Amino acid sequence: MMALIAGTGLEALFPAGENLPQKSNAWGDPSAALQRVITQQGELLVLNRHGDDGEIPPHRVNYRANIAALRDAGATSVLSINTVGSITSPDRVGSLCVPHQVIDLTWGREATFFDGGQTGRKHIDLTWPFDAGLRERVLSAGEQCGAGLVHQGVYVCMQGPRLETAAEIDYLKWMGGDIVGMTLMPEAALAREAGLAYAAVCPMVNAAAGIMGVPISIEDIETTASELMPCLKQLTTHLLAG
Ligand code: HPA
Repeated sequence: MMALIAGTGLEALFPAGENLPQKSNAWGDPSAALQRVITQQGELLVLNRHGDDGEIPPHRVNYRANIAALRDAGATSVLSINTVGSITSPDRVGSLCVPHQVIDLTWGREATFFDGGQTGRKHIDLTWPFDAGLRERVLSAGEQCGAGLVHQGVYVCMQGPRLETAAEIDYLKWMGGDIVGMTLMPEAALAREAGLAYAAVCPMVNAAAGIMGVPISIEDIETTASELMPCLKQLTTHLLAG
């Protein structure tokens, strides 16, 4: 079964879902109850990463409990939605980017299921952090919906919750980053540890800090995110159908 982890401002993507009873697991409480959504194309599990009211900031999300809850509920693949600022394509704000690589600059997050003690020690390969087959399917589903599609990008994951300084964005660009967000890691690595196929689609909701020479407007971010909602819903249903 496919799962969708919905990000900032996208909590209402599938309002018609049936809430499963919220269960904590060995890793704590997931962000919200999982919702089972039945569409004409098939069944989907939906989890709001920031809670149903968007109240959990990126650095406080219990990524381990979220991934474990989805796996325990029968998910085998995850489409993750992560809003981002665009570093290298500021003219493409309002489009979706399907990243192909990740740089993790977060700190202090619980980032592994293999945490020593009873959970043991294991090193996973993350050379290509996204599942190639699922990524291809996300790209072809993305081609069928209204917004523009950027076919690849290096996602840099920052700790947040603040946005970056202009100098930090220069630095991220220098290191090869195309888009910047706060939520893809450790989620992608945990999905790999849990054996779930994982791919992401990133609404590019603003030009990254400093690029336009003016402060970033949070209201503009929210407006752009909600404008992309119909397209994300279409993409998800195409993905289910394909
Ligand atoms: N930086 C980090 N995270 C983000 C941004 C950004 O500019 N936009 C949306 N999420």
